[in-house]
Amino acid sequence: MEPDYASTLAAQFAQLEPENQMKFQVIHPRPGNEPSSYDFSPADRLVDFALQHNMKVRGHCFVWHQQVPEWLMTRVKNHEYDATAVNQILRNHIAIVAQHYSGKVWAWDVVNEAFSADGTMRSTIWYDAPGIGFAGQGTAYIEQALRWAHAADPKAELFYNDYDTEALNAKSDAIYAMAKDFHLRGVPLNGIGFQTHVNLKFDDPKALSSFVANLKRFSDLGMEIHITELDIALDDNSQPSLQAQGELYRKVTEICLQNPSCRVLQTWGFTDKYSWIPGHSKGKQGWALPFDATYQKKRAYDGMVHVLETR
Ligand code: XIL
Repeated sequence: MEPDYASTLAAQFAQLEPENQMKFQVIHPRPGNEPSSYDFSPADRLVDFALQHNMKVRGHCFVWHQQVPEWLMTRVKNHEYDATAVNQILRNHIAIVAQHYSGKVWAWDVVNEAFSADGTMRSTIWYDAPGIGFAGQGTAYIEQALRWAHAADPKAELFYNDYDTEALNAKSDAIYAMAKDFHLRGVPLNGIGFQTHVNLKFDDPKALSSFVANLKRFSDLGMEIHITELDIALDDNSQPSLQAQGELYRKVTEICLQNPSCRVLQTWGFTDKYSWIPGHSKGKQGWALPFDATYQKKRAYDGMVHVLETR
């Protein structure tokens, strides 16, 4: 790890979440359930770093439609795997990875981004037929993944994580309905991850009050709230933009701290040097994180720390 990266991470943060190293494609690059099918070492290095520096580790993620390995995609596409086969693959994957990190990862994003913007189920390799065998049955496959994860590591807290769900909208309504149903039926779901990839448009009284109200309905249900991937993308690196970004980081931090169920506030990376935003926005946006590309603290950092220290 780059020395400035390691020292900033260890000095400033209480939790580490691997950005890619626990995703299916990276951690399980070859078919099978043998040790040789898995590549734990990149994630293990991060976990060791975190534990050496007294940081908690959050795991991300078991079920997602992206970063699925080629071996699995191709065989499903070629009808080489039926629902029973895909079901067994995911079940074993969750069991092996969750057990490997048992006692080290305290909370897992079990399912990531399973809903479309209109609140319907997203079409994915896990949901669509063959999938794990619950095509057309709504959230049943999410329930199954949660039950497998709970069986593999009963002490870990289990989360559903998604983006564009900060406000009250069709997607957050669908997640709310799922959380309520799971809660009533005792499905092991401890909380909801709100990715919170936003930009300066989010600094709007209506958007922010909708965020507050949305978090409140989930916490009223007994759900824990984690802000899991916060970043605030800018169109430019000007002083006014950086200042506005600092204000918005401050407001989001306040909103989390005001809700007693909001227990994690995590940014997606921490230095602009390695943010996913420039690549994701094809170079149109960047400068999204609390440290600049030379590891200097930005107003975004001051905005967050101000709130954290005055409580
Ligand atoms: C992103 C990583 O940051 C990138 O490095 C990678 O190329 C693609 O995935 N929502 C998520 C994260 O849940 O896993 C994504 O991470 C960003 C969006």
